[in-house]
Amino acid sequence: MSVLNLSSIHLLLLFSSLSGVDGYFGHFEMRCRFSSKDPRDIEFLLQVYGNKKLLGQYNSTTEKCTVYTQWMKNFTETACKGPAFLAERREEMKKYCSSNVPVVYEYLLDKTVEPYIRLRSVELFSTRHLAMLVCSAYNFYPKPIRVTWLRDGQEVTSNVTSTEELVNGDWTYQIHSHLEYTPTPGERITCMVEHFSLTEPKLYDWSKCVCVDLECLNEIRVLGWEGL
Ligand SMILES: *[C@@H]1O[C@H](CO)[C@@H](O)[C@H](O)[C@H]1NC(C)=O
Ligand SMILES: *[C@@H]1O[C@H](CO)[C@@H](O)[C@H](O)[C@H]1NC(C)=O
Ligand SMILES: *[C@@H]1O[C@H](CO)[C@@H](O)[C@H](O)[C@H]1NC(C)=O
Repeated sequence: MSVLNLSSIHLLLLFSSLSGVDGYFGHFEMRCRFSSKDPRDIEFLLQVYGNKKLLGQYNSTTEKCTVYTQWMKNFTETACKGPAFLAERREEMKKYCSSNVPVVYEYLLDKTVEPYIRLRSVELFSTRHLAMLVCSAYNFYPKPIRVTWLRDGQEVTSNVTSTEELVNGDWTYQIHSHLEYTPTPGERITCMVEHFSLTEPKLYDWSKCVCVDLECLNEIRVLGWEGL
């Protein structure tokens, strides 16, 4: 799908505390940033935090440390230098990042979860002539998605607003696109969804929605007690 582009993904691998003295808390983070299956494309970061603030980091792309505080500057002038330091970081990168490429791709990056789509209308109280349609995509992975509106097969760009991809907190995302329009008899309004999990764009026709009371939906779902 050419419109979508999977950008690099950070994987946080290790989180360990340094010390905890009277409210001061330090920790390390080791991050592997994957952008392809080629281990040479991995970026490894070793970050040092104090009270959640990033104090300094080692970056494998440049094989250099960047420091953000005077205290770290003193530290890096001695510790963050020399062949032994670099050898250790290369070893960590191999151990935590490169060796995990197959697992990371098989269980995370190559995984896709198809969105559940809900198309519905929202009443606009300010005027009787306008209608607002909402096309929502729920629980999809990965993040890149394209939700567009078609009027008689042509893409509509005006009077369309969309949220960002919202984080669900379990690796999945949701997004909501709104179309404000003046209903015209005979026209066909469609919501089109493109995503990695779909081999071709999925189309949801407003005319095929079923209305119950005041709500119209593309699919009637019978909710169990858990769903209510
Ligand atoms: C690491 O260094 C490379 C090369 O300068 C840079 O492109 C990249 O953004 C750096 N990574 C971070 C997290 O700062
Ligand atoms: C860093 O080192 C300089 C001199 O090398 C010293 O004056 C300064 O106090 C040190 N700073 C810290 C925060 O230890
Ligand atoms: C966009 O909405 C305005 C009213 O808010 C309407 O006048 C206009 O015709 C709409 N544009 C399109 C392309 O539907």
